[in-house]
Amino acid sequence: MTPRARLVVLVSGSGSNLQAILNAVAEQRLNAEVTAVISNKADAFALQRAQKAGINTQVLIKKKDQDRREYDALLAELVSSYHPDWVVLAGWMRLLSAAFLDHFPLQVVNLHPALPGTFPGVHAIQRAYDAHNQGLIQHSGIMVHFVPDEGVDDGPLIRQEIIPFIDGESVEAFEERVHKTEHRVLVDTLINLIQEKERI
Ligand code: GAR
Repeated sequence: MTPRARLVVLVSGSGSNLQAILNAVAEQRLNAEVTAVISNKADAFALQRAQKAGINTQVLIKKKDQDRREYDALLAELVSSYHPDWVVLAGWMRLLSAAFLDHFPLQVVNLHPALPGTFPGVHAIQRAYDAHNQGLIQHSGIMVHFVPDEGVDDGPLIRQEIIPFIDGESVEAFEERVHKTEHRVLVDTLINLIQEKERI
């Protein structure tokens, strides 16, 4: 059997996408092992999810007076120590500089709850919902892309999925549909990336 791909997952929050990955690994749909979950927030619920699954967790908080590149270099060192095939940004809410990214060319994958070129950064789901209510857009979506540089939620697209708005839907219900889509698409994308690499 092909050796399992090594994933390091970077998180900042709830970790529902991390959970989707862990479930897919447990169900043997994803030929991977999560070798570490690293958070930049000590209270990220994602850490509890990881610990429950018996995964190594690390917290690396940027100090106020610390240079961004210095933090990113330390983070790169930490991530490298787990020898990842893929680094998955699953709700990681810090911009990464070349001091990190140059260590992992074509290995860093980001998930964002909007379509390419739309609503980069924080609160993308709420901003898309508001734009729909203003009559500006009829659909939003989600995407998974490579992270080659410091562009915010921008980089070569791996997969996207459109999510049409439903008139009168609450933002909570819309958000739930977005997350459900993310969980499925992120796992499917990782399955495909890992299978493609196995074929090389
Ligand atoms: C997800 O919606 C993810 O796409 C988003 O953070 C959420 C994390 O949820 N990421 C971004 O907005 C990146 N700019 P989770 O912690 O429950 O997986």
